[in-house]
Amino acid sequence: MTQKEKKPYEIKEAQHATREQNRLETVRQFEYMERLKGKIKELEQEAGHPLKACVNTFGCQMNARDSEKMIGILHEIGYTITPKEEDADFILYNTCTVRENANERVYGRLGHIKHQKKEKPHLMVALCGCMMQEEKVIETIQKKYSFVDIVFGTHNVFKLAELLWSRLESDRMIIDIWKDTDQVVENLPSERKYSFKAGVNIMYGCNNFCSYCIVPYVRGRERSRLPEDIIDEVTRLAEDGVKEIMLLGQNVNSYGKNLAKPMSFASLLAEVEKVPGIERIRFMTSHPKDLSDELIEVMSRSDKICRHLHLPLQSGSTRLLQIMNRKYTKEDYLLLVKKIRNAIPDISLTTDIIVGFPGETEEDFQETLDVVRQAEYDSAYTFIYSKRTGTPAAAMENQVPEDVVKDRFDRLLQVVSEVGANISGKDTGKVMTALIEEQNSQNPELVTGRLSNNMLVHLKGTVDMIGNIYPVRLDECKGFYYLGSLANEKEGLGGEGH
Ligand code: SAH
Ligand code: SF4
Ligand code: F3S
Repeated sequence: MTQKEKKPYEIKEAQHATREQNRLETVRQFEYMERLKGKIKELEQEAGHPLKACVNTFGCQMNARDSEKMIGILHEIGYTITPKEEDADFILYNTCTVRENANERVYGRLGHIKHQKKEKPHLMVALCGCMMQEEKVIETIQKKYSFVDIVFGTHNVFKLAELLWSRLESDRMIIDIWKDTDQVVENLPSERKYSFKAGVNIMYGCNNFCSYCIVPYVRGRERSRLPEDIIDEVTRLAEDGVKEIMLLGQNVNSYGKNLAKPMSFASLLAEVEKVPGIERIRFMTSHPKDLSDELIEVMSRSDKICRHLHLPLQSGSTRLLQIMNRKYTKEDYLLLVKKIRNAIPDISLTTDIIVGFPGETEEDFQETLDVVRQAEYDSAYTFIYSKRTGTPAAAMENQVPEDVVKDRFDRLLQVVSEVGANISGKDTGKVMTALIEEQNSQNPELVTGRLSNNMLVHLKGTVDMIGNIYPVRLDECKGFYYLGSLANEKEGLGGEGH
């Protein structure tokens, strides 16, 4: 027997915690933040300039939300936040591993930072997020990028202050990776990207194990937050001026099933709607297998829930859907689309599609094109299948040759844009409400607003309109966006106030 190899770090087993322990953990993290405030001031004096931190986020809305929390902590302890990596004294990468190219981008950036660190020895580099939950990634970092200061995963972003403190107290790479957790540490600082809209996690993790997908392995088991904690957070956000809420989860339609007192996603939505000040509600992502009639009904009655549904298809072939472990057929999916469109005629549908899943034949691919045409998506995120080590699909033998995949991918894009072009423009001439989000970067006389159905509209306006909702006439469609003009309040809105 060979001697057991000693690893310099260990993945910690699942962490369990009671509500009281979670509360105490928040208090503990604030203590670290207090201590760090003094330390950061000292470091600033040494450096002779204010310390800046840059947080780079890859991947989905979950990561974006986690980054807001980490930016909140960094800001609290005294860092100035900068979007420019080259100005930063602390660089944090919040990584994604859903496809191989996401990983490659991170390694590419790290190669670049290696040089920067030579010129700027006090520069600190931290890595966190989904990629870090993979053992082989940690090994690569230890071997090739040993200059990295802190490495942590998806389950302990709330510990950033503590980890930073540990790093400043030692001269070694700090690695803290947990296998899973049911710990939900609430009420830490958080810095929102926009003052008027915010993402709110309603659940973490995923239990679906679609056979191509790595998310359940790196984000752990599905856990729903308590409805009272969600409503508390939404209420605080509303009091702080937030008008639009995006409820976040890998599969929001299965929200609440595992709570001690189970609650459906539709009932949660109904509760969120009641929070005064919240004018728009969005959510992401909906798995078709769990989208209930109750949800369709709540949506159709609501004038706050936005007219947009992201409903990932992945493939239109029932045969492949089964191997993908998606638990619906092509017919189930199309029937669902019909039901949704009947109940909510002004809904905009978008989707995710994977091309080149192992064993995909031309016939399977044709089924996908068929669904794209029938479902009439406004737009679709299309992905080339990427083999993720550890998932069942990675072990499948019949991987599709690259040139075949590329050809199908191009044909899919063509059909998606044809279908999108047919649909877009359907609301030209109507008056709809738009939440004004920003000044147009190319023309400062214009502002950009988002319609309930998620389309963008550019109109003449001023920065003081940002964060407010206005009726806008959609004058002209330019493909994926409209040009519009502020409408008279009395003109009446098309589409039931949306
Ligand atoms: N929870 C969401 C999706 C999260 S991942 C859902 O189930 O809908 C976002 C998208 O990435 C997926 O919808 C899928 O289309 C794509 N994706 C996931 N794993 C992939 C892989 N191995 N290769 C290519 N695309 C993948
Ligand atoms: Fe991945 Fe499927 Fe979970 Fe979405 S539902 S995160 S695709 S395993
Ligand atoms: Fe990527 Fe993790 Fe999201 S793998 S897609 S950032 S859950």
